[in-house]
Amino acid sequence: MIVVFGSINVDFVTRVRRLPSEGETVTGGEYALLPGGKGANQALAARKAGAAVALVGALGADAFAEPALANLRANGVDLSGVRRVAAPTGAAFIAVDAAGRNQIVVAAGANGHARAVDLDRLSAKPSCLLLQREVPDAETHAALDWARARGVHAILNAAPSSGCPAAFLRLAGTVIANSHEIADIGGMPHSSAEAISRAYGCAVVSTLGADGALHADGTRIVRVAAPAVRVVDTTGAGDTFCGAFAAALDAGADTRTALAFACTAGSLACEAAGAQTAMPSRAAIEARLSA
Ligand code: RIB
Repeated sequence: MIVVFGSINVDFVTRVRRLPSEGETVTGGEYALLPGGKGANQALAARKAGAAVALVGALGADAFAEPALANLRANGVDLSGVRRVAAPTGAAFIAVDAAGRNQIVVAAGANGHARAVDLDRLSAKPSCLLLQREVPDAETHAALDWARARGVHAILNAAPSSGCPAAFLRLAGTVIANSHEIADIGGMPHSSAEAISRAYGCAVVSTLGADGALHADGTRIVRVAAPAVRVVDTTGAGDTFCGAFAAALDAGADTRTALAFACTAGSLACEAAGAQTAMPSRAAIEARLSA
C-alpha cells in the first residue's frame, strides 16, 4: 500500500487567453470547481494506476470538504487518515491559458493543520510514503522521520516552491523535482539531478516536461522520453507522474519501467482539462505504452 501525506484542495479553474502579468487583470469565461491539491491528486493518480492507497491530510468542515473528497472516495482511496479541522478547506485559484499553461495561487486553509501523527492511525505498514510540500514543513519533516524509523521508502515531490530543505533530502529515498526545483534544491544552486543525488544520498527524478524524465541514483542515470500528446491543460501532470511512479514501484517495476509508466501517465494527463479529471487509468497508460 502507498500512503500519501499531503494537501487536499478544491480548485477554482478559469480559462484565459493569456496568463496575467504582475498587477494585471485578465478576464476568463465561466469557472469550474474541481477537486485538487497535490496530496489528493497524487493519491488519486496512484490509485488509478493500480495501487492500494491511503491519504493522510486535513479538511475543513465546510461545503467544499465533500467535493474535495468525491473522486477519492469513488475510486476507493482509504480516507480514514483525513482529519476534519476548524479551518476552511484548502482552495486553489487556477488560470489556464490557450496553450494549457497555468498560474496557481493556493490558500492553504485546513492543509495548515495536517499532522504527521495521523500516520500512526494507519492499520498496515505501507510500502511507500509519498509527500509534497503543500502542508507545513515541520509536519513533512516529521512524516519523513516516521518513514525513516519504520524503513518505509519515502518519495518526496519537491513541489511547490523552491528551496526544498536539505534535511528533507537526507531523509527521502527518492526526490522528484522539475527543472526549477532542481536549480535551488537544498537551499543552494545545483546543476543536476546527479549532483543532488551524490550530495544527499537520495535517488533523484528530474521531470523534463515534454522531454521526458531522468532518474539519478549516484551510480547511473536512466532517461526516458515522453510520448507526444495534444496539450489541453498541464495542471496536475506532475502529480499524475508522481502517483504513477509510486504505483509502478509499489507493483515491483524496475526504475526504467516505472519512469516510462510515469512519463506516459503525466503526458496523458495533459490531454484533458483539470487535475484529477484528466488522470488516466492503468489500462489507458499501458495502452499508450504499447502503441
Ligand atoms: O499540482 C496541481 C495542484 O496544485 C492543483 O490541484 C492545486 O490544488 C494545487 O495544489
